[in-house]
This record gives sequence, structure tokens and C-alpha cells, in this order.
Amino acid sequence: MFNMLWAVALVIATRSVAADAVPASVTFHKDVLPILQKNCQTCHRPGEAGPMSFLTYETTRPWAKAIKEAVRLRKMPPWFADPKIGHFVNDRSLRQSDVDTLAKWADGGAPRGNPKDAPPPVEWPKGWHIQPDVIVEGPAYGVPANPKNNVVEWITVTVPSGFTTDTWITSVEIRPEYPEVTHHICLGFNPHTPDVKYFVPYWKDKERGEDGSALPNKGPTFTGGGGVKPGLRAAEDCYVPGNVAIDYRPLHAAKLVPAGSDITLNLHYTPNGKAVTDHVRIGFTIAKEAPERRYLSFLRQATTDPKRFAIPPNDPNWACPPVEVTFARNVELVFMMPHMHARGKDMTYTLEYPDGRKEAILHVPRYDFNWQIGYETSIPVPKGTKLRVDAHFDNSVNNPSNPDPNRTVYYGEMTWEEMMAPFFSVVVDRDADPKNILAGPRPPSN
Ligand code: HEC
Repeated sequence: MFNMLWAVALVIATRSVAADAVPASVTFHKDVLPILQKNCQTCHRPGEAGPMSFLTYETTRPWAKAIKEAVRLRKMPPWFADPKIGHFVNDRSLRQSDVDTLAKWADGGAPRGNPKDAPPPVEWPKGWHIQPDVIVEGPAYGVPANPKNNVVEWITVTVPSGFTTDTWITSVEIRPEYPEVTHHICLGFNPHTPDVKYFVPYWKDKERGEDGSALPNKGPTFTGGGGVKPGLRAAEDCYVPGNVAIDYRPLHAAKLVPAGSDITLNLHYTPNGKAVTDHVRIGFTIAKEAPERRYLSFLRQATTDPKRFAIPPNDPNWACPPVEVTFARNVELVFMMPHMHARGKDMTYTLEYPDGRKEAILHVPRYDFNWQIGYETSIPVPKGTKLRVDAHFDNSVNNPSNPDPNRTVYYGEMTWEEMMAPFFSVVVDRDADPKNILAGPRPPSN
């Protein structure tokens, strides 16, 4: 009797361990495909940002060794938050047991296994990720194959929103036609002014040195979102690879777009040797009735003053002057997105509560310029709390993305200039005045 109980206990114990452990024999259909479906196929299928498809055994098999490397080094899936700090709703990092399963599959010769063991295929949405109620035609921009210095300046274009009444939008999706040359597309809502010329791209060619970098004595021209008109909002919601749609519905929130607003887009293309014309479309879902809560997006930048924002040559760890804002009312902090360029090294968001307590809420220890990832969270922030964002830059030869460690780097829009621009979003009561969310004189975002 005793022996039997012992045996049962042993089986139960082994089972509970096995739930999170690597199976003895690993096959594609039984063990690997479920991991790919859950963590990889969102990008790795035809028409998406991932350069190869992981839908079938045939297309995945040649990449077995590369998959093992990519997940072991935590290069894939792209997710760069320090797991010890904060908690993120959209955390897509792999469990260690999944990493081990993929590695074991590659080491075992990447066997197919029995197709009967496979989970049913995921029904991925065709085209749009959201089901838009309204589609707004954005600009079409000709991206050259090989422009001078390989520079396409950030472009600002305004298009009509078509919203004739105040509209609560519940999600936004910005769809470039050619993700492979699209570094980012952001948009903002602005009141219509008579001088606006729709669909006319506007940019400012700056004076440039031999290497294509903006000459510092001319000073930075960045105005908050890349717009050439000061005060124009063009960076409230962004398309970046891996972050295609912004959905406020899970937060029981919506964003208010005033009647007659124009949509100003800020586009950054990175030419890849093939000329294309990128047609951009913007999809919205619309609230049927006023939502419980209001979603507000903010972008605050570190100083653009060339006297204070100047990264010395060969400095491996330059500390940027921090961004600091104080909340003038209770909010729920729901989103953070670090933004820097090729020399960006790390970024940390810290809350400093009115009682003096400090809490790091996001730490990205190895910032990767190629991945502008947004981190979704849910943090109740009391009135009087300060949000402080710190960042370091690596202008040394140790930084493999550094185009030139021997020059001083100033604030600017191109990828070899630098930028320290933390995004964050909050949710507040529907009737809260957006001008009174942050203390101080800076203008609010929508
Ligand atoms: C958010 C989109 C996205 C997700 C999710 C994603 N990938 Fe990728 N993956 C990419 C892109 C884009 C590239 C092209 C290289 C780059 O831009 O870094 C890539 C490249 C790769 C490569 C090529 C080798 C390399 O290191 O460049 C491998 C292997 C890979 N991914 C495996 C995976 C696996 C396995 C998963 C899931 C566990 C995954 N990826 C999840 C977008 C994604």
C-alpha cells in the first residue's frame, strides 16, 4: 500500500515538472509548431516583417540552427525589457523551456514527427489586424533606390481625416505597403488650417557634412514629431515593425478626435536599393458610444540644445540629461516606448512618488535601434508623481551600429544623429481635461 501511494505521488510530481520541461523527444508537429504559432508566426509568415515563413515544416526546417541561435541569444522574438523590472501586458519573451525545446529540436536533426500531432493552423487575419470601420487614404511616397548619402529626410504630410463630428476612436492601424523600407510612420491629429496643402510632402533638407550628418552649427530643426511647423502634432500613434496596431479597447478607453481634424503623418523611410512607391492607409475602429475612459499619448524629448546634447567622440556611456514630467492628477500609465538612434544604449523609466519612493518601471539594458518596441503596462500613478527617464549612449567602437565613433553627435532626425525621445501614454476619466494631465507649460498631446 505504502509503495503504491509513493508511486502515485512520484508520478504526480514528475507530471508537474514535465509541464514546464522539455519533452524527451522533440518533433516539429508536436512540440515546435505550437511555440512558433504562439510567438513567431505573427511576423514570420508571408507579407509580414519577418524575412522567412514559419508556417510549415518545409519552410521552417532550413532555419532550425538559426532559430536555435536566435532564441538562445534572445535576439528573437524581439523583446528587450529587463525581465526583473516591471510587468508588461504584451510581454512576448520566450519561457526558458521553450528556448530549450527549440534548441533540442535543432540539435536532434529537426525531425518532422507525425502531422497528426500538429495543432490546427492559426487563422491569421488577412490584411488588416484590426477590422477598421473607417479607412483613410494616406500619402503615396516614392522611396528612391539609392539617394545621396542614403538620406531620405523625415517627411511630414497632412491628409484630411474625413471626421465631420467629434469621434472616439478605439483603435488605429497604420499600414505601409512596403514594410521592408519603412522605419516608422507616426501620426497626430491637428485642427484644420486654411494654409494646409493636403498630400504635399514637406521636409527640410538640412546642411550636411561629407558623411551626411547635419552640421551642428545650424542647430537642430526638430520640433516635436518631426513636423516643420512648430506645434504640429505628428507622433501620437506609430507604426513600427512588430507594433502594427494600437488598440484602446482592452483598456475600456478611446481617443477623442475633434471634428474636422487633419491627420499629419511623419514618415521615415530607409532605402534598400530598390525604388518603390509606398501607399499608406490608416484604419480606425470607432466607438458606438462615448467610452468610460480617455487615452492620451505623450512624447517628451530631452534637450535639443547642441550645448547640452553633444555626445563626445568615443564615449562608451554618455548620460543624457533626463526627461522629467510630473503628473498633475491621478492617471493609469499604460504604455512606454523608448526612442533613440544607432548610439542609443539603454533607457530607464522611473516613477518618483510623492512619498519619496522610487520605482523603476521599465529598463531596456541593450537598446536596439531596429526595434522600436512599445511596452504595455498598467500602473496606477497618483497625482504629484514624477516620471523620470534616463538614457545612455554608446559612441565607442564597441557599438557595432555606430557609424562613426570619432565625431561629436548632436540631436537630429537622421539615424546617424541622435535622439532621446521617450513616449508614454495614460488613461484617465473620459471628462478629464487633457491640458491638466502634466504639470508645467508644455502643450499636451491628444
Ligand atoms: C515582431 C516580429 C517578429 C517576431 C515576433 C519574431 N521575429 Fe524573427 N525576425 C523578424 C525580423 C523582422 C527578422 C529580420 C532580421 C531583423 O530585422 O532583426 C527576423 C529574423 C529572424 C531570424 C533570422 C536570423 C537572425 O538572427 O537574423 C530567425 C532565425 C528568427 N527571426 C527566428 C524567430 C523565432 C524563432 C521567433 C519566435 C520565437 C521569431 N523570430 C519571432 C521579426 C520577428
